[in-house]
Amino acid sequence: MSQPTVNRSPLTRTLSSKLSIALILILISSSVAMFLAGQFWMKQYNEEITQKINASIAMYVTDAYELIGKDDEKPKLDVIKELSRQAMIINPIAEVYLLDSTGRIIAHALPEASIQQRTIPLDPIKAFINGDAVFPLHGVDPRDPTQTKIFSAAQVPNSGAAQGYLYVVLGSKIYQEMGKDIKSSHSRSMAVMTLSMIGLAAVIAGVLIFSLLINPLNKLSKRIGQFSEQQRGNTRGRKHSSLSHSLSQQATSPPAKDEIDQLQQTFGQMTAQIEQQFDQLKDADNSRRELIANVSHDLRTPLASAQGYLETLLIKDKQLSQNERLHYLKTAISSTTRLGQLIGDLFELSKLEAINVAPKFETFSLAELVYDTLQELELELKEKGIHYQVITPNHNLNVHADISLIQRVFENLIRNAIAYTPKNGRIVFQLEAQTNVTTDAIKISISDNGAGISQDDLPHIFERFYTNPDKSREANHSTGLGLAIVKRILELHNSPINVQSTLNQGTCFEFSLPFAA
Ligand SMILES: Nc1ncnc2c1ncn2[C@@H]1O[C@H](COP(=O)(O)OP(=O)(O)OP(=O)(O)O)[C@@H](O)[C@H]1O
Ligand SMILES: [Mg+2]
Repeated sequence: MSQPTVNRSPLTRTLSSKLSIALILILISSSVAMFLAGQFWMKQYNEEITQKINASIAMYVTDAYELIGKDDEKPKLDVIKELSRQAMIINPIAEVYLLDSTGRIIAHALPEASIQQRTIPLDPIKAFINGDAVFPLHGVDPRDPTQTKIFSAAQVPNSGAAQGYLYVVLGSKIYQEMGKDIKSSHSRSMAVMTLSMIGLAAVIAGVLIFSLLINPLNKLSKRIGQFSEQQRGNTRGRKHSSLSHSLSQQATSPPAKDEIDQLQQTFGQMTAQIEQQFDQLKDADNSRRELIANVSHDLRTPLASAQGYLETLLIKDKQLSQNERLHYLKTAISSTTRLGQLIGDLFELSKLEAINVAPKFETFSLAELVYDTLQELELELKEKGIHYQVITPNHNLNVHADISLIQRVFENLIRNAIAYTPKNGRIVFQLEAQTNVTTDAIKISISDNGAGISQDDLPHIFERFYTNPDKSREANHSTGLGLAIVKRILELHNSPINVQSTLNQGTCFEFSLPFAA
């Protein structure tokens, strides 16, 4: 199984694209904010300067001209009109209004229809005259009451009680329209262009920096991935159940969102694998200790027995009868046979449990192998008067497996059936083709009508050195390694073995092998 690859095609998947998008959004929003703030403060600054420069216009006019008749106390309209005309020629942004002491417009030189508001609030005008206001100071524009404008103002007459006010609105409609044209044509486009160029440069620099930062992250993730893959390759074929569990966990883990997520997942997989391998090592170490203890005990027992009988023969040679001598020799031989068998089984199991053991797969007829094995064990079967039967739908059922290892499985299972079935018992060998969408295998079952296995013993029978405690090991030469060898061989073929047994009724072992056409 290969390392789960990260789909990087959608832009939003990779960390660098996410960071780039975030950077672009931040730059766009900060550029817009900077642009708007710049516009606002630029306007404020312009207005402040314009108002300061033109602040004395109104005072100058009221000093130089008589705007309200001293005798009749009426506004001098012709003077105001002339003043307005001159003011607007010299300074096109100025619009002149004469207000009475309540703020009502009493004279102006503009078309009557253009005046929208006839009474002007006096608070900003008084603040301007008193000089306690912060510039820019805004007042109502009589021609457009929705807008406020900067202005200049003075009391009329200048000294004594105020008969009225001269109100000069700065920033007339003409000025505003000219301003708009200037903004759209030049300064605004320049500002937009400058900001865009700065933004573009920042984005390019950001993307470059992100890819420089993320590249080592990708390399690290790749190396960890390769390491985990290598480790999986090493453990494959050893602990199938835990491995397949971790692999299925990987398959169900959600796809990585970005580089950091991928690194996190790969790291998680690697630590899980290391933990798993550590557990395996601990298990292996425990079972090695257990094995050494069992082996030394099991080797010592027949060795001590053979040595004891042989020594007795040597020491008491003259005192022993012919029959006794024969009995001692037979027992010694039987002990050495058992010793040989035990060493052979142990050697075989340790070979099978070596990390790099690989079965030699080939295609062969399963039924033929069954008959060959039964033939080989014919003598043992006959000795106990055990009948056997082979049920197969087709003699040419071919499987893909290691023929000598599978023969060893058959031998061990048949030997057990013979050993744990009383005289005149029966063994049935059944082969069954299981061909469907998911599997293409042959199910093999070996059943007997023997002693059966108790429910307490069942979970342990595949453990090394586990033998029926009720039966004397010495008597039937049991080592308790037979089923451990069977299980390990089938593990190498990716095939679990199942057992069903009822005490005093019989036992049935079942497993499958891949079908070969
Ligand atoms: N067909 C069977 N019927 C009843 N009990 C069985 C059968 N096969 C296995 N067992 C039980 O399982 C135990 C373990 O079997 P296993 O083959 O591993 O060891 P063994 O037969 O005792 O020794 P050996 O290593 O010589 O085969 C046996 O001791 C026996 O109790
Ligand atoms: Mg056995």
